[in-house]
Amino acid sequence: MNDYGSLKQRFEAAGQEQVFAFWESLKAGERRRLADEAASIDLEEVNRLSKRLLHNSGSNAPGLDGLEPAPHVPHPAHGGDAAVWKEAHARGAKALRDGRVAAFTVAGGQGTRLGYDAPKGTFPATPVRRISLYQVFAEKILAANRKYGVHIPWYIMTSHQNHEATQAFFDDNRFFGLAPATVSFFRQGRMPAVDFQGKIMLESKCTIALNPDGHGGALRALVRSGSVDAMEEAGIDIMSYFQVDNPLVHCIDPAFIGFHIESSAEFSSKMVPKAYPGEKLGHFCRDKEGRLVVIEYSDMPEELAEATDADGQLRFRAGNIAIHTLGRDFVRRVGSGRSQSGLPFHRADKKIATVDSRGEPIRPESPNGIKFEMFVFDALPLARDPVIVETLRPEEFSPIKNAEGVDSPETSRNDQLRQWTRWARAARVDIPCDDSGLPEFAWEVSPLFADTEGEFLNKWHGLNPKPAIESGVVLR
Ligand code: UTP
Repeated sequence: MNDYGSLKQRFEAAGQEQVFAFWESLKAGERRRLADEAASIDLEEVNRLSKRLLHNSGSNAPGLDGLEPAPHVPHPAHGGDAAVWKEAHARGAKALRDGRVAAFTVAGGQGTRLGYDAPKGTFPATPVRRISLYQVFAEKILAANRKYGVHIPWYIMTSHQNHEATQAFFDDNRFFGLAPATVSFFRQGRMPAVDFQGKIMLESKCTIALNPDGHGGALRALVRSGSVDAMEEAGIDIMSYFQVDNPLVHCIDPAFIGFHIESSAEFSSKMVPKAYPGEKLGHFCRDKEGRLVVIEYSDMPEELAEATDADGQLRFRAGNIAIHTLGRDFVRRVGSGRSQSGLPFHRADKKIATVDSRGEPIRPESPNGIKFEMFVFDALPLARDPVIVETLRPEEFSPIKNAEGVDSPETSRNDQLRQWTRWARAARVDIPCDDSGLPEFAWEVSPLFADTEGEFLNKWHGLNPKPAIESGVVLR
């Protein structure tokens, strides 16, 4: 970037000249850095968003009038038709064998709640081997490769902050046995933070306060990075989307993929029944235009969240656990649009580290600015024929979000132990447990041994002799 003058002029014309407030005092390298960051900003978009979001609470929530619960495909354990699930499974398995499916992980978040000083995917998640979240997913993908006779490509969306460290982690661990050419990393987009007057904030004299643009940024980033083109070239038209924080996720789920294909859906989601009305999961709903939408738990009026059906179940019980199937062409369509035609941005008021008029650092104690983020579930109402499929929480959802308490490394580890122990008990292995099904000792099942109860039972019955399940045992 050598044409600094015209860049500064553009910022002045947009009322954002404060970005260059310290320009005269910067060294050449610092100027280059600031100019590069400034050049990456879509000023028109930032000013448009500031205008729209500064003067409302920022919640872009869909209207609540005439809201109905979204329909979903019930799991066979909750009255779903087992024959229909079997068909869906077969359909999805065929798509997998035909090489139509890629795995896709969003891992560009900042993970502030966990407070772990490395990319979240490198966090040791399992009870005995203490393998990383990335290794858990890699083993699940490897197992699917073996099952379906393919090399499922795995796309990982990183952030500017964690990109290099993520790649280095895969290199250092030899891609956990996956073919390196099948794993692709790309950075998500960034958005500048603005103050409550809509002015772009500096993080230091020569850097702008830039943040990842939310998991919804995945759609743009998939397009911009060339990933969508690469998928098209490889004959892939379906992405299996999951977050980096949930070691129980079925990264590759043939039945879910089968339901998605059967309904010619452009975007599909898994749901679990909410455990209680205030649980922090978004609600799958149908709006008055008949579109499926997700209403964030914070936007759901209490009386709707607490309403029950005649059978006493929560009426709006379908909780969003951020597991989706995305159609490639849908991602191209939505991800190619600018913000008016693509996903909406939401406003989040945050404490943003910045500098004062003398360039001295400010570490605010209360929110002093706004971050702009897109949410992937805002794609749902834009999609044709979306389908929502129930899954079983104990089998598929136990995220690591917080350092302690709910959704923490400890709760997730215990949920993994309960799952494997349930499977073993179904195979008539006697393991001492407490009332919650938590075994008295830690042991582990690698996804390479089994990723579902059915697979466990098959493998276990084929083992001769059978190993003793005791403290520290790992089945792989
Ligand atoms: P979370 O909502 O848990 O946010 O992200 P976070 O940033 O990781 O964590 P906190 O809130 O700071 O503690 C859910 C998933 O979406 C990804 C995360 O990496 C995680 O897999 N994500 C989130 C992105 O990929 N990009 C983002 O900008 C935000």
